Amino acid sequence: MAKPKSTFVCQNCGNVTSRWQGKCEACGEWNTIVEENAAGGIGGGPQRGSLRKGKPVALMPLSGELEEAPRIRTRIAEFDRATGGGIVRGSAILIGGDPGIGKSTLLMQAAAGLSRAGHKVVYVSGEEAVAQVRLRAQRLQAAETDVQLMAETNVEDILATLAQERRPDLVIIDSIQTLWSDMADSAPGTVTQVRSGVQSLVRYAKSSGAAVILVGHVTKDGQIAGPRVVEHMVDAVLYFEGEGGHHFRILRTVKNRFGPTDEIGVFEMSDIGLREVANPSELFLGERNSKAPGAAVFAGMEGTRPVLVEIQALVAPTSLGTPRRAVVGWDGARLAMVLAVLEAHCGVRLGSHDVYLNVAGGYRISEPAADLAVAAALVSSLSGVALPPDCVYFGEISLSGAVRPVAHAAQRMKEAEKLGFAQSVLPQLSDGQRMRDGVAHEIESLPHLAAAVAGS
Ligand code: TYD
Ligand code: MG
Repeated sequence: MAKPKSTFVCQNCGNVTSRWQGKCEACGEWNTIVEENAAGGIGGGPQRGSLRKGKPVALMPLSGELEEAPRIRTRIAEFDRATGGGIVRGSAILIGGDPGIGKSTLLMQAAAGLSRAGHKVVYVSGEEAVAQVRLRAQRLQAAETDVQLMAETNVEDILATLAQERRPDLVIIDSIQTLWSDMADSAPGTVTQVRSGVQSLVRYAKSSGAAVILVGHVTKDGQIAGPRVVEHMVDAVLYFEGEGGHHFRILRTVKNRFGPTDEIGVFEMSDIGLREVANPSELFLGERNSKAPGAAVFAGMEGTRPVLVEIQALVAPTSLGTPRRAVVGWDGARLAMVLAVLEAHCGVRLGSHDVYLNVAGGYRISEPAADLAVAAALVSSLSGVALPPDCVYFGEISLSGAVRPVAHAAQRMKEAEKLGFAQSVLPQLSDGQRMRDGVAHEIESLPHLAAAVAGS
């Protein structure tokens, strides 16, 4: 008998090589390459006897209006916001996140919400026994709902069970790394198994019209396949994030075929599950000490929603040959850029200082509009002069030191005023944009900011 052909697959990115290597050439991760059996892998499976002819349909129906994608709402407003207004029927959604971040908790709460609204929900748990899921549901006050439970890991068995029942509105699979299929003969959790399991479930979603939510653990050590390897197969990808030690969690959309991708849902983990946070700014600014030097409030945007958050900087003389730069919640390369611009255009000397930057509350900022707030915090810490407590900052800094306009200035100012801020330092506004009651200090370039902070 011919030896079964095996391939070597990176469990982090799914790259296939013909021989084992210590480091994956595609993603650069170490020790993530595992031997997998190629036979019956993706695209494999039993041979079909006869061909089935399909029939193409018109892109636009001739009569009648196009209907909106039918959505089902979970009654968790933050969850519905992140999915773009509810879960689309027949779609497959991947929810990734670190183990223990609260994915199962979130989905049990969503399942309970849908079930209360009269939808049929099946929760397939491959990680916990039915008794454990029940215990959790009790704690989440979801026990009295009609959510159907299944503790099953074999994909064919799951699909056969689902086929017997009245069609569910939503099927939750927790998690994809426990799935295994008869079609693929590598171990559960490998790229081949995860992909073929997800492929069957996506096909089930499309053909039955039931929505499928797939849970995937983000893996650091690459021992099991991460959610990355199936992102391209699903309709929407959401990541559930949070900083260890902090209570709040952010559901971030990174791909959505049926909605915007820049929305976030904000939650707080409590002892009875996840609580929605409708106004994140109040939460992030909750424990603010506005008199300390080195703290600046950034008026940011997450999708359509303004979020105010405090940026803290500590600039201190270094005792090392090479000064330290440490960043939490922002991009290290962007910090280096802001430091370089401060040195080159504002005469701020930081070569013999350690610089630490922290975004309060474990929040993570990806907008370049935070540049100006970061610069203000740095200058304030270096000079030891606190910034005005009622002022917010936003604006992108270019390498020439110019402060460039950013989108949604009016919305940022409005949110700041709502929370009691009376001033803002920002790029030049277009006509008709003013703070309603407060003062908007429009600055053209970074030296203006440095001068303003030093003189205040
Ligand atoms: P879980 O949903 O099991 O995480 P995941 O499915 O992403 O691995 O959540 C686990 C953590 O959440 C655990 O550390 C305990 C905490 N937790 C609470 O704080 N309150 C609760 O009501 C629940 C159910 C969990
Ligand atoms: Mg879980």
